[in-house]
Amino acid sequence: MKKLMTTDDLARDERFRRTPVPLDFLMAEEVTVEQVEETMLMLLGNDEMRQTLEQQSAGGGGPNIFRRVRPEEDDAPVFIKSQMHGIFMGEMQALEAAGRSAWDFTDDDELPWKFQFDMARQCWDETRHVETYSALLDHVGCDIGEFAENLFLFEFGCSDDPAERVVGVNRCLEGLALDVFNDTIRFGRSADDDTIWKSVDYVSADEVTHVRFGQVWSKALTADDPERRAKIVNFQRKVDRAFSLGGLRGAYDGANTEQFLPLAIEFRKLAGFTDQDIADVAGAAPKVKGRR
Ligand SMILES: [Fe+2]
Ligand SMILES: [Fe+2]
Repeated sequence: MKKLMTTDDLARDERFRRTPVPLDFLMAEEVTVEQVEETMLMLLGNDEMRQTLEQQSAGGGGPNIFRRVRPEEDDAPVFIKSQMHGIFMGEMQALEAAGRSAWDFTDDDELPWKFQFDMARQCWDETRHVETYSALLDHVGCDIGEFAENLFLFEFGCSDDPAERVVGVNRCLEGLALDVFNDTIRFGRSADDDTIWKSVDYVSADEVTHVRFGQVWSKALTADDPERRAKIVNFQRKVDRAFSLGGLRGAYDGANTEQFLPLAIEFRKLAGFTDQDIADVAGAAPKVKGRR
């Protein structure tokens, strides 16, 4: 079986469409508000979503995608569909990335067997999550393929260094997933929708373990190699910056329910994040020019 696949090698059936990942934008140290909005529209949008955002713009001001949506709002159905679809695609890619990590490094004699064991355990979990989110898509009336897929997650799962893999996928991306899940649980609770909040809470328990794999393995694999450790920390900073979504994620304050996608402090602490780790993520955003 082939090792070290690229994103082009990922197979999908005819239901799926792809949108490119704007890596240059995501890694930039300085961005403009317009670039952030364009990118988010490209990543999240479909025709229904674009129409919703254009209607908002017609009322004055820019498209309001950086806010939390409440169940009683008119555009809540399209937002929750978009969110569920994005998570569903993320679960599939998490399964694929963990599967690759279990297989790609089997020739590396220095890599502990427990690493592959943890990645295999993760595959088992992610398979269950794909099933769960497939059912949640049915629950919110969304078809698979209704929104475009971006290969955001898998892109960071293609590194040839296992420590970078777990930093990119487990620590950074699944850390972001904890924030998104926390937000989805909050949405489900305020909508009185037990199916949503209980299912997502159940999946979150596994994700905490996966984020912990990232914390533990990135340190364990680099403990005796300061040069590799420095390279990994540098990579981590870049990925944290990419996942700040152009720095417009709000104040990262979990107590402030008005902000777009605050950090899920409680979940992240369960996954082994220290206060310093949380401060690093919160401070990772690029400089945003022209912020409204
Ligand atoms: Fe998952
Ligand atoms: Fe996961």
